[in-house]
Order: sequence, then C-alpha cells, then structure tokens
Amino acid sequence: MVPPFLVAMAILGHVQAQQRSTLIDPPIREFDQILNHDSDQTGKFSQRYQLVTHYFKSGGPILFVQNAQQEMSPIWTTDLIDYAPQLNATVAILEHRYFGDKSGGSFPRNFNKRSTKNDTSDNSYAPLTLDNVLQDGVDFVNWIKQSIPGAEDSKVIYTGASSYGGFLAVQARMRYPDTFTGAIASSPALMSLGPMPENRLKFAAAGHLSKVYYNQSREAAQKIHENCHDALPDLNICWKPNGTDYRLIYQATVQNYFETSQFNYPFVDRFPTEYPLDDLINKTLPAKTDGEVIRIPLLASSWQQPNKCIDPSNRNITRASSPKVTSPEDYITCSYYAINHRSIPSNNLLPEAYTRTSVDLCKNPEWEASDYNSSNEYFTEKYALSHTNLDSMERLLIVHGEFDPIAAIGAPILTEADSYNHSRVIIVNGTARAEDTFSEAVVPRGVRPGLDQIRDAKLAHLKEWLGVGNQTTPESAAPAFGRLTWMLVAGAAMASYRVV
Ligand SMILES: *[C@@H]1O[C@H](CO)[C@@H](O)[C@H](O)[C@H]1NC(C)=O
Ligand SMILES: *[C@@H]1O[C@H](CO)[C@@H](O)[C@H](O)[C@H]1NC(C)=O
Ligand SMILES: *[C@@H]1O[C@H](CO)[C@@H](O)[C@H](O)[C@H]1NC(C)=O
Ligand SMILES: *[C@@H]1O[C@H](CO)[C@@H](O)[C@H](O)[C@H]1NC(C)=O
Ligand SMILES: *[C@@H]1O[C@H](CO)[C@@H](O)[C@H](O)[C@H]1NC(C)=O
Ligand SMILES: *[C@@H]1O[C@H](CO)[C@@H](O)[C@H](O)[C@H]1NC(C)=O
Ligand SMILES: *[C@@H]1O[C@H](CO)[C@@H](O)[C@H](O)[C@H]1NC(C)=O
Ligand SMILES: *[C@@H]1O[C@H](CO)[C@@H](O)[C@H](O)[C@H]1NC(C)=O
Ligand SMILES: *[C@@H]1O[C@H](CO)[C@@H](O)[C@H](O)[C@H]1NC(C)=O
Ligand SMILES: *[C@@H]1O[C@H](CO)[C@@H](O)[C@H](O)[C@H]1NC(C)=O
Repeated sequence: MVPPFLVAMAILGHVQAQQRSTLIDPPIREFDQILNHDSDQTGKFSQRYQLVTHYFKSGGPILFVQNAQQEMSPIWTTDLIDYAPQLNATVAILEHRYFGDKSGGSFPRNFNKRSTKNDTSDNSYAPLTLDNVLQDGVDFVNWIKQSIPGAEDSKVIYTGASSYGGFLAVQARMRYPDTFTGAIASSPALMSLGPMPENRLKFAAAGHLSKVYYNQSREAAQKIHENCHDALPDLNICWKPNGTDYRLIYQATVQNYFETSQFNYPFVDRFPTEYPLDDLINKTLPAKTDGEVIRIPLLASSWQQPNKCIDPSNRNITRASSPKVTSPEDYITCSYYAINHRSIPSNNLLPEAYTRTSVDLCKNPEWEASDYNSSNEYFTEKYALSHTNLDSMERLLIVHGEFDPIAAIGAPILTEADSYNHSRVIIVNGTARAEDTFSEAVVPRGVRPGLDQIRDAKLAHLKEWLGVGNQTTPESAAPAFGRLTWMLVAGAAMASYRVV
C-alpha cells in the first residue's frame, strides 16, 4: 500500500498566522462505534471525529470525509469546508478505525498495537474489515442526522482520498446508495489488485511515472535512468555500509523517485521544498556522476543539507523501506486491499522490478486472507469494479492528479456524458496526489490553475447531485463538461497503459 500521503499538521506551519485565527477547527470528539457491525456482539470503541455545523441550514447536506490509512487530518484542511457555505452543508470527518497518533486514536479498548496474529479477540486486528469500515461511516452519518436539528432528511456525500480512501468512496457509493447520494473518490487505485505476476495492469503506475519524468525533462530523466541501479555508486554514505544498509538505501531511492512526483505539492510536506519534482529535476540536470544524481532524492527525503553524508539510519530513509509488520496499513494490504503499483517494466525510468515474480505486498504471512493470492480479475469481480459497473453508477466523481502514478490504475474508461450525474473521471493537469482535497486555507486560489478549476467543477457536481444544480432546469443548462479542454478526461489518455 502507498504510505500515508500527508503529514497534515506540518502544513499548519505554512498557513499565514492571520489566516490561522479564522480557521474553523472544532474540537476532536469521540463517537461510540460498534466494533463488529455484522454480529450481535455489543463491543464498542471510541472513534474520533470532527464536525462543522457553522454553515448548516435546515435541509442542507452532510459532506462526509472518511479519513483513511493515517491519523485524522484537521477538518479545515479539507476542501469540502470551502463548498459548505454555498451548499448550507455540514461537514464531518471520521478517523478510520485502528488509526491514530500519539494524542489519541480510534482503537478498540484492549487493542494491542503489536499484535501480529489474526484471531477473533478484540486485541487483534480481526475487526478491521472492509465491511466494518464502510458500516462505521453509515452509522456515523445516521447519528449526525439524528443529532442535528434539520438534518433528518439531509442527503449525504461520501468522500475519500488516496488509493485506499478513494476505493472506500467507490465501495460506499456502490454498496450503500440509499445512504450516500453521491461520492467523490480522490486518487483511488481500482485496477491493479493482488500480488500475482499475471496481473496485466501491474506496470501501469510505473509507466505513468516514467512519462511524467520524461515530459518534465528528457535530459534529467535520462540521467536518472542511467544512474539508478542497485550497484550503488559513490554516494558519500556516513559510514562503511553493510548489505542491509545498501538494500535500505536502494529501496529508498526508488521509492523517493516515485513519491517526489506523487507528492509534488506546491507546499512543504514530505519533502523540504515546495514543488519537489521541479526541485529534483533542477538539481539533477547539473549533476555529473552517478553518486551525485542518486544523492538528490535521498537528501530530499531525509531533509539533509546538500553537503551532508547520507545516513542510512535516518528514520526518513528507513521509513521508506523498513520491513515493519505491525501497522494497520499492512493489515489492510494483507487482508483485503493489496494494490500493486510496484512492478516496473524494463526500459522504464527506474530499474526493472517484479516483472516475472509475485510482489511481496503483504509483510506478514499470518495476516494473508485466504484469497490473497488471487488474480486481478478476481478482485475486480469481488469489489464490482468493472468499467461497466462504474459506468452505470450515478453520482460518482473520480479525480486524479496528473503527477500521481496511481492515476494510471485508478481511472476506468467511462462514457463521456454531459450530465453531472453520470459517473466521471477527471485527471487534473499539474496537480499531485489528492491535491484536489486540500482547502483554500492550505493551497490558496491562484497557486495552481488546474486546482481552482477542479474546485469549481466539484461544486457544480455537488450542486447537481443535491438537486440545486442548473442542469436540472433545462433553460439554464450548464456548459458541457466533457468539452472543456483544460482537463484531460481519462479514456483517451489512459488507453495507452492498458496494453502492458
Ligand atoms: C441556503 O439557505 C438559504 C437561506 O436559508 C437559501 O436561501 C438558499 O437557497 C440555500 N442554498 C442552497 C444551495 O440550498
Ligand atoms: C507535460 O509538460 C507540459 C508542459 O510543461 C505540462 O503542461 C503537462 O502537464 C505535462 N504533462 C505531464 C504528464 O507531466
Ligand atoms: C548493518 O549495519 C547497521 C548499522 O551499522 C546495523 O544496525 C546492522 O545490524 C548491520 N546489519 C548486518 C546484517 O550486519
Ligand atoms: C527550476 O528551474 C526553473 C528554470 O530555472 C525555475 O523557473 C524554477 O523556479 C525552478 N524550480 C524550483 C522548484 O526550484
Ligand atoms: C524527517 O522528515 C521530517 C519531515 O517529514 C523533518 O521535519 C525531520 O527533520 C526529518 N528528520 C531527520 C532526522 O532528518
Ligand atoms: C481473520 O479472522 C477472521 C475471523 O476468523 C476472518 O474472517 C478473516 O478473514 C481473517 N483475516 C485474515 C486477514 O485472514
Ligand atoms: C500466497 O503465495 C505465497 C507464495 O506462493 C505463499 O507462500 C503463501 O502461503 C500464499 N498465501 C495464501 C494465503 O495462500
Ligand atoms: C451553472 O452552474 C455552473 C457551475 O456552478 C456556473 O458556472 C454557471 O454559471 C451556471 N449557469 C447558469 C446559467 O446559472
Ligand atoms: C441529478 O441527481 C439529483 C439527485 O437525484 C437530482 O435531484 C437531479 O435532478 C439530477 N439531475 C439531472 C439533470 O437529472
Ligand atoms: C494535460 O496533459 C496532457 C498529457 O500530458 C496533455 O496532452 C494536455 O495537452 C494537457 N492539457 C493542458 C490543457 O495542458
């Protein structure tokens, strides 16, 4: 699974002090959630949430964010806050079960974070199932409807970001169409599931990544292609490395090339500079030796100064490659959502990997579900993710950022329709992973043109879904979305990734 995509709190430091005082940031509260929704067990746990009712007017919608695969982001960082005033909406964010941070979390009471066994006791991960996660959202929004006067009949929109969070949004809309009127899935991975070598889409993400780099700068990409190999060149490592150190450094290098594009945000987040992809390209162009080229992503991800030696024990390097086996992300990967974006074909920007063998997506065999080794086709069927199914779903919007390689395994080919209610995929040029989910407090208007356009498009979709859009009244029909040229509607663009 792709690691957490945002250290949201780090962003607070970049928001202007003056602006910070106007942010709506209600206290984090806890919801008494059922641990096993499908049984009559009475076990409960406390699930954290934030709720903004500031803009709500009776009958307005509930815009719901299911946070995923990381601690809960502050609610003011989500773009839904920006649409709420115009929709009279309430906005809610729910932490994903089994995630949290030092200050708290959404764990069962007796849960043992070091548990590596799958048993049915509540100190193991067993209640961390897809069904339970989706049902958490259903119960939570139903509770909001009962608790806020005027919300009894509110329509609810489900949103989720990142490969997995976007996948949740698609699943929620599909399985609970009566609860969730519509869904926005930002950067979902829907199409390369399972570890098997036969998966025909396994090279798509790496192919997209390569394209992004070559498009940015053919010269820089060529240097990376020639110099990135596992016989690590002279990197100026802080001590004489052993085999383990080398392996960590090599894995971190490959991963960082991937993530520099994926998380190419216009603000400082995972990397010490804004626009880390441009920064990496700019620094790669004058680099002369193998070592000089490969040091660049390593220095960036470890936040080290240009002249420093590379410290293989730096947590920011080991994080990218450590064989840690006790995280909830790993459990989810092993048990129900094993996305493969790691296979790399020959003749790619990065060195060939997992071309003929299974990918070791699951780090703990004890956690492997019985169908773990199934084919991509099997999972497509299991989760009803065929293009035909997605095409016939109404009010599903899938948004991808062009710099995110996951765009290549998350953009089904759908019928181009003018109706905002038809399911739709939009790839936003010049934006990174799930960048569309950031509020204007994080990325103000004017910073990224593509981002502002997707914000307007989302609001137009939401209005239509909620019955207050202007396609509903024929005399004020909106311009046909599919004809706008500033975005690349998947289908045409992604077709080239299908044959691998
Ligand atoms: C929001 O509420 C105001 C006042 O109640 C109303 O005039 C307006 O039409 C509502 N907007 C939407 C989008 O429902
Ligand atoms: C390719 O480069 C052009 C010009 O810099 C840019 O507008 C476009 O978004 C880039 N596409 C990709 C896939 O990076
Ligand atoms: C390699 O070196 C690191 C750091 O000095 C050390 O922690 C590790 O145990 C060593 N591994 C092996 C296999 O010697
Ligand atoms: C990269 O270099 C170009 C051309 O000199 C410059 O316009 C751009 O601001 C630089 N980007 C970064 C992030 O340093
Ligand atoms: C690791 O990265 C974080 C940002 O994610 C940075 O603040 C920190 O200084 C880095 N730590 C080290 C040891 O380089
Ligand atoms: C864990 O155990 C439960 C209950 O026996 C089972 O339903 C589930 O599939 C198991 N999960 C994995 C990852 O094996
Ligand atoms: C999946 O395949 C691997 C390697 O072939 C095997 O070791 C593992 O036990 C299999 N897992 C399951 C759940 O069948
Ligand atoms: C229809 O809605 C779009 C998006 O909300 C807006 O830009 C446009 O001005 C509206 N058109 C009319 C005629 O109201
Ligand atoms: C889109 O769906 C909403 C909710 O069902 C509905 O109110 C609206 O009229 C639909 N729009 C069109 C153009 O059918
Ligand atoms: C968006 O990116 C695609 C692929 O790089 C390109 O073909 C298209 O022209 C771009 N659109 C704009 C408006 O830059």
